[in-house]
Amino acid sequence: MKPITKALFPVAGLGTRFLPATKAQPKEMLPVVDKPLIQYAIEEAYEAGIREMIFVTGRTKRAIEDHFDMAYELETELAAANKHELLRVVQSIKPDDLECVFIRQPKMLGLGHAVLCGSLLINGEPFAVLLADDLMVGEKPIMRQMVEQYAEWRASIIAVQEVPPEQTRRYGIVAGTPVRDRLVDVSRIVEKPAPEDAPSNLGVAGRYILTPGVLDEIRNLPRGVGGEIQLTDGIAGLLRREKVFAYRYEGRRYDCGSKEGFLQASVELALEHPQIGPGFRDYLASLRESGRV
Ligand code: UTP
Repeated sequence: MKPITKALFPVAGLGTRFLPATKAQPKEMLPVVDKPLIQYAIEEAYEAGIREMIFVTGRTKRAIEDHFDMAYELETELAAANKHELLRVVQSIKPDDLECVFIRQPKMLGLGHAVLCGSLLINGEPFAVLLADDLMVGEKPIMRQMVEQYAEWRASIIAVQEVPPEQTRRYGIVAGTPVRDRLVDVSRIVEKPAPEDAPSNLGVAGRYILTPGVLDEIRNLPRGVGGEIQLTDGIAGLLRREKVFAYRYEGRRYDCGSKEGFLQASVELALEHPQIGPGFRDYLASLRESGRV
């Protein structure tokens, strides 16, 4: 099987949990400290050796295309003003060897459907899927961990984490046989089960490596939970034909599609930021001292 060279970013969702902020701008452009969510995800894929980024977009998502395009006026102004460090920051958003392709999902029919919309550009190869609203942080980037697993097993790999029993309705949940410490040979996957129906406490996070067979499965799917064409159901179909592994990644995940997760990411990444971290830590300490938290 071929190595992973393509990553798909489904960014067509409406982001209703973040209204009114997402009325006219994509949720993926919300900044955590100083970078939009989508840039964290692109950098994670790039660090995993992936160079071809496929965005599945929708209306109101123009800002994402602009973000990864060249900004002539801005770059000229920064150069003329000798703001070389800022110029470097702007130019580093899209390294020369990174390719961005955009395709539209005409109707929001679900994540599985969004993946299918990108399938024209997949060319029958295995591919990665990253949901940018899951901001993932690891000493080794999470997608790199997954690409390494893929290189060893040559099968679909799904990122999972343990989730509290009362939260199973928010996740796809997998069950299977442990193969080694962080790896489970998946036998079942269900989308958003009630706690009493959940086959385990392993919830799917927004990172996948999928073999192209999943696309045939999705094509033949009826609508699933919430009336949407679910990626989870496509993976359940794939399981009948191929091995699928769940990988307990090493790192942290922030659900930046929710306000709480977004704020947690903002605080924790601000604390780690080389420039503003120390000052921000003092600020939080002063809030604590003054009894406001
Ligand atoms: P979410 O379930 O978070 O939906 O989608 P959403 O519309 O983005 O946000 P809320 O729930 O209304 O606040 C998970 C991921 O799948 C993409 C989203 O962009 C997000 O990255 N998605 C979802 C699509 O690209 N198309 C769809 O039809 C549905």
